[in-house]
Amino acid sequence: MTPQPVRIAPSVLSADLLKLSDQVAQLEAGGADWLHVDVMDGRFVPNLTFGTAMIDALRRVTDLPLDVHLMVMEPEHYIEPFAEAGASVFTFHPEATGHLQRHLVSVRERGMRAGLALNPGTPLGAVEEVVDDLDLLLIMSVNPGFARQSYIGASTAKIRRARALLDDRGSTAYLEVDGGIALNTIDAAYGAGADTFVAGSAIFSAADPASMIGQLRERCKQGVSV
Ligand code: DX5
Ligand code: ZN
Repeated sequence: MTPQPVRIAPSVLSADLLKLSDQVAQLEAGGADWLHVDVMDGRFVPNLTFGTAMIDALRRVTDLPLDVHLMVMEPEHYIEPFAEAGASVFTFHPEATGHLQRHLVSVRERGMRAGLALNPGTPLGAVEEVVDDLDLLLIMSVNPGFARQSYIGASTAKIRRARALLDDRGSTAYLEVDGGIALNTIDAAYGAGADTFVAGSAIFSAADPASMIGQLRERCKQGVSV
């Protein structure tokens, strides 16, 4: 079996916002594939972060795909503004809305890739009926809201089941994992079939964030057999 590619998506939630432009340049130099932007509304999760102004600002300094993760209630209200601002991937939580299929179609119609994210306690069945409308499935390996939490071990088995679901349905959607990804956890997630890895604190708390991107990628390649 050909090993799946590895995409590393540093999360700007852990960046130094006053140095964001320099830090983005560093991440690009280190080979970051995407930039992950965590949007939180203080309702779906107990924290507030960024809105479209962050997307606008990042768009001015980089051409990297912007992987926007909306941890907000009723994310459908934000499809249009985030598309306008230059988001590339629009991922939302089924726990935060209804009419998933309609919203996934609208995300694609606005020229973005459509993603769904599942909290650790939400079963995979929540996305089974809309697999054909998905460009990305995000398995949360922490309960969303904050950086620097520990990877929940049960996520590995869930990633494996998500991989099987996508493969069975002939889906080419990205399989992303978010939360507690570091050198000691990325190999298990990769081995279970994930191909896209969000990392916040592991990258930004490293002495050399750019080199950590390469180390994380390398760890997948040397890791457990797939
Ligand atoms: C958590 C966010 C994550 C967060 C990851 O709610 O969705 O994207 O930035 O941070 P680390 O990698 O530090 O767990
Ligand atoms: Zn995230």
